[in-house]
Amino acid sequence: MKKKNNPFLLKGYVSKELFCDRKKEVDQLFANVQNGIDTTLISARRLGKTGLIFRFFDHLREQGDVKSIYVDIFSSRNLSEFIKLLAEAILLGFPEKTPIGKQFFEFIKGFRPLIGYDPLTGQPQIQINYQSDQEKEYTLKGLFSFLENQGELIVVAIDEFQQISDYPEKNIEALLRTYIQNLTNIRFIFCGSRKAMMINLFSNVKRPFFSSTQYLYLEKIDKAEYSLFIRNKFSESGIGITEEALAMVLNWSLMHTFYTQSLCNMLYYIAESEITIDTVKLACLELLKRNEPVFYQYRQLLTTAQWNFLIAIAKEGEVKQLTAQKFISQYEIGTPANARRISRSLLDKELLLELPYKKETFYRVYDVFLSRWLENEY
Ligand SMILES: Nc1ncnc2c1ncn2[C@@H]1O[C@H](COP(=O)(O)OP(=O)(O)O)[C@@H](O)[C@H]1O
Ligand SMILES: [Mg+2]
Repeated sequence: MKKKNNPFLLKGYVSKELFCDRKKEVDQLFANVQNGIDTTLISARRLGKTGLIFRFFDHLREQGDVKSIYVDIFSSRNLSEFIKLLAEAILLGFPEKTPIGKQFFEFIKGFRPLIGYDPLTGQPQIQINYQSDQEKEYTLKGLFSFLENQGELIVVAIDEFQQISDYPEKNIEALLRTYIQNLTNIRFIFCGSRKAMMINLFSNVKRPFFSSTQYLYLEKIDKAEYSLFIRNKFSESGIGITEEALAMVLNWSLMHTFYTQSLCNMLYYIAESEITIDTVKLACLELLKRNEPVFYQYRQLLTTAQWNFLIAIAKEGEVKQLTAQKFISQYEIGTPANARRISRSLLDKELLLELPYKKETFYRVYDVFLSRWLENEY
């Protein structure tokens, strides 16, 4: 059989056919929208938050055309860049030809912006020059009011929301909170991967977003659902996979969505008819080889002690107590204080992942490929 396009996506969202499960989460988001509740969506990087947002938007369209806007603020460094990205996202969500789009175009012209289109992607680009901070705040307020005044429900997802805590403006949280709490037609999804920062933003009593939203912690995809999905996607192309091979795929990639998808994507690429343990081993090695330049880069950025610490964690797989005597002496880490200092810096660099599990906390190497590579190489 001639192979179709690879069904294992490594970025973006295409259709629900290529998206595994997340029914519970979609239902939860939908219920929140209906009940007037904003959601804070949190998980480790690459587990599927952005995918879930687009899957949910798809669901909204099916359920009767609730309008949705997606804005990724990862690249923003201050309030004016936030406003710019928000305005561009609105323009993208409501194209110029639609009635709302026309209105928005007229509205935004009031701020005398430069409007252009990215020559490569065709996406709108807006540049506004502000005379003062008040003018910035006025513009932001204006954007929200514009959406509010459409008189229909609009879902606005702000991805990588933790970015706002790096903005130089001090009042940004309070400002957003003030505008947001008066909106009745807009439901927000605040999405982020820096867990501590997100929780601090939303749960710290001293902070303005306190208790204003409901948390949705995204976990790994359910094992049975993911197994079925993988098996089906292969079999739709006439490729079989043995039980052991499938178990190895899920185990090796730790069911961390991006890494599982990557491994399946590679398997789809190399498989002929049936995938066995040997095919999986081959695919794993190939993936690690392709990612080696990234691993060497990590090594360059770290001190020897930090690098050795990562190797130790990778060898263990998961570590419960980073300062435990046994762990420290086995891997010659030095003192508990050393271990604490090194782990803090690795957590900060997002090379180490903290996994709360019931009453305990586990740590593992954040990047699953790096973890597997360190485990093999050292
Ligand atoms: N439910 C899913 N089924 C299949 N692939 C998924 C699913 N969720 C996410 N992915 C894929 O996993 C990768 C990481 O997902 P992404 O949404 O970008 O994670 P995050 O936003 O949490 O960093 C992407 O390649 C995406 O296409
Ligand atoms: Mg994302």
